[in-house]
Amino acid sequence: MERGFSFVRECPLFPLKFVNVKDIFGTSRARVWHFKIEMRGTFLIPASNMAIKQVVQPRIRGFICVSAHPVGCAENVRRQIAYVKEQVPLKGGCKSVLIIGASTGYGLSSRIVAAYGAGAATLGVSYEKGAENGRTASAGWYNTAAFEAAARNDGLWAKTINGDAFSTEIKAATVALIKKEMPKIDLVIYSLASPRRVDPKTGQAYRSVLKPIGQSFTSRTLDTDRNVISEITLSPASEEDIESTVKVMGGEDWELWMEALEEAGVLAEGCTSVAYSYIGPEVTWPVYKNGTIGRAKEDLEHTAKRLDALLKIHRGRAFVSVNKAVVTQSSSAIPVVPLYIALLFKAMKARGLHEGCIQQAWRLFATQMYNDNILKFDEGRRVRLDDREMREEVQSEVFAIWPDVNTENLNELTDYAGYQTDFLNLFGFNFPGVDYDAEVDIEVPLL
Ligand code: NAI
Repeated sequence: MERGFSFVRECPLFPLKFVNVKDIFGTSRARVWHFKIEMRGTFLIPASNMAIKQVVQPRIRGFICVSAHPVGCAENVRRQIAYVKEQVPLKGGCKSVLIIGASTGYGLSSRIVAAYGAGAATLGVSYEKGAENGRTASAGWYNTAAFEAAARNDGLWAKTINGDAFSTEIKAATVALIKKEMPKIDLVIYSLASPRRVDPKTGQAYRSVLKPIGQSFTSRTLDTDRNVISEITLSPASEEDIESTVKVMGGEDWELWMEALEEAGVLAEGCTSVAYSYIGPEVTWPVYKNGTIGRAKEDLEHTAKRLDALLKIHRGRAFVSVNKAVVTQSSSAIPVVPLYIALLFKAMKARGLHEGCIQQAWRLFATQMYNDNILKFDEGRRVRLDDREMREEVQSEVFAIWPDVNTENLNELTDYAGYQTDFLNLFGFNFPGVDYDAEVDIEVPLL
């Protein structure tokens, strides 16, 4: 993905020649004042309709927000860093970490814990969009820029490769960068969530779908766009749906990553690799655990066992960590899950058990992977960070209330307000202390 300025590609009136700034300045990182440039003949003129200083408001479309606030995203990162700085530094922590899916959600928080809890050098891989044609960059882009700036300011090595992690090229670029600039990797975190993957061997594109298997599933759901409780019926997945979802969200790509790193000799003795999964309560099983995504997660668990055997050669280990339900760009897209999360948050907050991504990532590092701990597995060889979510008292409260929730009492019976805050926070909105009326520069370079 091009990080430099992008140019209007077509003009109906004149045969203009538009060029990339890289061709003019020899670097895609050149910053040329606060305007974009069009090349018309031999003249350079500012494209005034593409102001990059602007007031940024949330633009929500369905379950996604298509704008992001650079200052708010930086605030999100700052708060997570502050949380980790308040903890006691990790003992025997990681030193050189690769995070695949590092820009948002669990991957970003894991990166922050590795860097600020253990002082590790972190290399992130993510697939984010820079600002273009007056549109803001994606939240993950701003998060990454803010994290890199903070890390460097604090003397921590941090770099990010922005591109398709499923591709052979990005794997090769990652290996090359590690060889050139990093000590051997002692922790690989696999935290990708994607709707699509192109198989690098065949070139075939696969789409993951969120569908039940075997029979259709009808449930109450929360339409977060219209703030209403409605009923949803999901038709059962075809064999092709299942296969595609496993291709995208299963373990194949994680395995390709680990093989590429192992073959290149960039894994340290004792290297750990972890991928994230979710199980959740029975009410979501038809669409999650027993659905297409659940099949992909089963595949991830099989992969963990194979990778564990591979890493054992170097006294290392691989495993799956089952994390709790949190609001992220990925989870907000899953039918039924937002309603469950709104109920869950209320039950967990009332008991002082609430956690977000950063608390979960901290607990994984501090109580499982480091501080002289050993990994505590369940019967399926999974680490369970969803233990508090799955407590009997929490789940029974959620399910006692579940049938009674309707559009009118949504705010009273659930923590939908907390859900909405977390959702807006993902895109840098709704943080106290950020001036959302001020014009901000939406062009933020990655370092
Ligand atoms: P997210 O949507 O916040 O993050 C996804 C990350 O993957 C981003 O950094 C994005 O840039 C990156 N990405 C997506 N496609 C890419 C590509 N082609 N190349 C490079 N990077 C790409 O997702 P979230 O929720 O943090 O999920 C991460 C993992 O955690 C997933 O395996 C998910 O199943 C798991 N998980 C999530 C839970 C939740 O409630 N959100 C609960 C338990 C597990």
